[in-house]
Amino acid sequence: MLKNRGPIFLTGLTAILSGMFLYLFYGIPESHTGSSQPIPFSHRVHAGVKAIACEFCHPYVRRSVHPGIPPVEKCLYCHNYIIAGHPWIQKEHDYYNSGMPIPWKKVFYIPEHVVFNHERHIKKEVECRACHGRVETMDRLLRKRFKMGFCIECHKDKQVNIDCWLACHN
Ligand code: HEC
Ligand code: HEC
Ligand code: HEC
Ligand code: HEC
Repeated sequence: MLKNRGPIFLTGLTAILSGMFLYLFYGIPESHTGSSQPIPFSHRVHAGVKAIACEFCHPYVRRSVHPGIPPVEKCLYCHNYIIAGHPWIQKEHDYYNSGMPIPWKKVFYIPEHVVFNHERHIKKEVECRACHGRVETMDRLLRKRFKMGFCIECHKDKQVNIDCWLACHN
């Protein structure tokens, strides 16, 4: 009996470790790392922990084709006071002083011939997460290229005009 303890312990340990690996690998896909950005801005910290409203930073999402990405002035509105000495905040000042916008990498794409407008969706209370995932849990947003099937599935579900494919393609 006692002789088997070692192997049994090792087998158990291996099982637990591979279970953990599989969980981390497949279980929580939204924690996979997204594209790196010029400043490691975190939606988890801002929209999650600090609960800043999406529309504070993306104010035009209800009324324009472009939701808006906040200019560095808006970051400094808080960061002139909050963790002002942090090296990444110093980098914000460098961008501000040079007059160069922060070159954020775009992460969500739709095929070029598709016309997409947020307005209609937000007015019908389709949540941000239905398309963008749980942004408030992510440090870096995951790259995603929307496919037609994804759009059509929900439109069928909600019985929205499927003629959309006449309305969407220009
Ligand atoms: C409404 C206020 C507010 C705005 C606007 C804001 N931040 Fe922050 N930011 C915070 C707070 C609060 C923290 C957490 C500070 C702490 O950890 O004590 C933070 C933390 C950070 C950090 C440190 C991140 C970390 O992992 O701890 C960075 C980098 C940062 N912000 C960048 C930005 C950038 C870039 C912008 C503009 C796109 C921005 N912030 C806009 C409030 C704001
Ligand atoms: C403090 C400001 C701030 C808040 C609050 C915020 N965002 Fe952002 N958002 C940014 C910045 C800066 C970027 C560009 C950098 C990046 O992609 O991480 C961005 C990028 C995005 C993008 C990707 C756009 C692209 O490049 O394709 C989406 C989608 C998005 N935000 C959705 C949301 C949603 C949904 C919420 C609320 C749950 C939210 N954001 C809250 C500042 C903010
Ligand atoms: C029905 C799906 C859908 C919903 C709901 C949705 N989005 Fe988007 N969003 C998209 C698509 C598709 C794109 C890419 C559009 C493009 O490339 O022109 C996008 C792009 C963005 C961008 C980047 C814009 C840019 O200029 O690069 C931001 C920011 C954003 N969304 C924020 C939000 C916020 C905030 C909400 C909730 C209030 C939201 N979205 C809800 C589908 C959606
Ligand atoms: C989670 C559900 C959902 C997803 C995903 C979704 N939509 Fe929609 N869409 C809606 C709803 C609901 C409406 C109806 C809005 C209304 O009645 O005004 C709508 C309306 C539209 C319209 C206007 C249709 C018309 O009758 O003129 C267009 C265009 C459109 N969506 C394009 C897209 C594209 C492109 C995508 C994929 C990137 C997409 N949608 C993804 C729910 C969705």
